[in-house]
Amino acid sequence: MRYLAALFAVSAVQSALAHPGSPHPDAEGRYTLEAEGIRAQFIPYGATLTNLFVKDAKGQELDIVLGYDNTSYYPVDPGHPVYNAIPGRYVNRIGNGQYSIDGKTYHTQKNDGPNTLHSGTNNWSFRFWNVTHVTNSSITFAITDPSNSSMGMMGRVDASVTYSVSKNKWHISMDAFSLDNKTPIMLTQHTYFQLDAFMRPDDRTIWNHTVYMPEAQRVLVADGNALPTGKIAKVPAGSIDDFWSAPHELGFASGNDNFENHCGNGCHGYNGAWAFNEDRNKSATVLTLASEYSGIEAKLTTDQDAVVLYTCNWNDGKTEFKDTQGVPGQDQFIPRDGCIAIEAHDYVDGINHPEWGRLDEQIFGPGEKYHWESAWEFGTI
Ligand SMILES: *[C@@H]1O[C@H](CO)[C@@H](O)[C@H](O)[C@H]1NC(C)=O
Ligand SMILES: *[C@@H]1O[C@H](CO)[C@@H](O)[C@H](O)[C@H]1NC(C)=O
Ligand SMILES: *[C@@H]1O[C@H](CO)[C@@H](O)[C@H](O)[C@H]1NC(C)=O
Ligand SMILES: *[C@@H]1O[C@H](CO)[C@@H](O)[C@H](O)[C@H]1NC(C)=O
Ligand SMILES: *[C@@H]1O[C@H](CO)[C@@H](O)[C@H](O)[C@H]1NC(C)=O
Ligand SMILES: *[C@@H]1O[C@H](CO)[C@@H](O)[C@H](O)[C@H]1NC(C)=O
Ligand SMILES: *[C@@H]1O[C@H](CO)[C@@H](O)[C@H](O)[C@H]1NC(C)=O
Repeated sequence: MRYLAALFAVSAVQSALAHPGSPHPDAEGRYTLEAEGIRAQFIPYGATLTNLFVKDAKGQELDIVLGYDNTSYYPVDPGHPVYNAIPGRYVNRIGNGQYSIDGKTYHTQKNDGPNTLHSGTNNWSFRFWNVTHVTNSSITFAITDPSNSSMGMMGRVDASVTYSVSKNKWHISMDAFSLDNKTPIMLTQHTYFQLDAFMRPDDRTIWNHTVYMPEAQRVLVADGNALPTGKIAKVPAGSIDDFWSAPHELGFASGNDNFENHCGNGCHGYNGAWAFNEDRNKSATVLTLASEYSGIEAKLTTDQDAVVLYTCNWNDGKTEFKDTQGVPGQDQFIPRDGCIAIEAHDYVDGINHPEWGRLDEQIFGPGEKYHWESAWEFGTI
C-alpha cells in the first residue's frame, strides 16, 4: 500500500525507550503482551514473535506458533526458517537476482538457486531491531536499513512494526519510508502456525488443518524454483489450489498426481501465492485456518492483495519444537509438513512483472510511505 507522506523523516525520530513502569523483557529477552484470551511474546531479533498462546476448545492455553525456547538460538540457527520474523526490505523472491528501476538494472544476491530470497543474507529477519515503544499490550520495533546493506537495494529505508493485542486478537502494522531514492519495498510477518501445538499424538503434520480463502480464486503460476512465471491462472473449484469454493484440508489433494513437486522441484504441498479478488471487502476475513483436533480457528484480515502459503516441506525433521508444545513422553521433533507459514504481502516478484501493474505497490521513493496492516482473530470452532 502506498501513501504520500509529507514528513517522512518523522519515522526516524525514535520515541524514548521504556518509560518507568513499562514492561521489561524476561530473562530470555522476551517481551510479553497480554489481553483477554491471548498472550504473545516477542524479541528484537528479526522483530520476532516467539510464542503465541490462545485457548483451545477445552479452554486450555496452547502455544500455536513455531520457534525456540532458547532465544539465543535464533541468530545462530543454521536452518533459519524465518520463524515469525519480518523479512525485508523485499520479501520472497527476486527473479534471477535482478530488477530495474527507471532503466537502470540492479543486481541482488542469488541465495536461492538462481533467485534472491528474502533480500539475501543480510535480510531484516537476521538483524536486531530497536525497541522504540512498549506497553503491556503493544510493542514497536524499528530498523534503519542503510543503502545497499540489503545487497543491491539502494537508498536508506527506515521501517517499524507495531504489534498489539486486544481481546482474542493480534494486530500487526508496519510502515516504511525510503529516504534517498526509489527502491523495492515489500514486507510481511512470516508466521508459522501449528494450531494443535504438536499435541495430537498420532499426527504432527499440517494436512488436517483446513484453510478457507473465499477471495483467492487466482494463483501466480510458478516454476521449479517457486518463482512466478508471469502467468496468473484462475483456480477451478476442486483443483489442487482450491481453497475458495469451500474450506479444504491442506492435505485434501495429497492423492493427486500433481501434489508431489507442486511447490517446486522436490517440494510437495504448497509454497505458492494466491491473489485476492480485486473487489473484495478489505475489512472482512480473507483467510480462515482451523484445526478440528484443538478446535482452534484463526481468521486473517489484511490490506494486502495476495498471500503465500508454505506447508513446511523443507523441514528436515531434526528441529525440535518448544517445551511449551507437544505431549509429555514424546520426542519433540517437527516432521516434514509439520507447519504452515502464512505470509500476506503483494504479488511475488512484482518488480519484475510490470504487466501486472504492481509497481506502485512495490517501488517507493522519497516522500512515499509503505504501509502494511493485518490482524489475526482467534476463536474456537
Ligand atoms: C542457547 O543457544 C546458544 C546459541 O546456540 C547456546 O550458546 C546456549 O548454550 C544455548 N543455551 C541453552 C540453555 O541451551
Ligand atoms: C538471511 O541472512 C542470514 C544471515 O546472513 C542468512 O544466514 C540467511 O540465509 C538469510 N536468509 C535467506 C532466506 O537467505
Ligand atoms: C503491566 O503489567 C504488569 C505485570 O502484570 C503490571 O504490574 C502493571 O501494572 C501493568 N501496567 C499497566 C499500565 O497496566
Ligand atoms: C538502533 O538505534 C541505534 C541508535 O539510534 C542505531 O545506531 C542503530 O542503527 C539502530 N538499529 C537498527 C537495527 O536500526
Ligand atoms: C553493494 O554491495 C555489494 C556487496 O557489498 C558491492 O559489491 C557493490 O559494489 C555495492 N554496490 C554499490 C552500488 O555500491
Ligand atoms: C487427515 O488428512 C489425511 C491426508 O489428507 C486424510 O487422509 C485423513 O482422512 C485426514 N484425517 C482426518 C481425521 O480428517
Ligand atoms: C465489510 O466487512 C465488514 C466486516 O465483516 C463489515 O462490517 C462491513 O459491513 C463490510 N462492508 C461491506 C461494504 O460489505
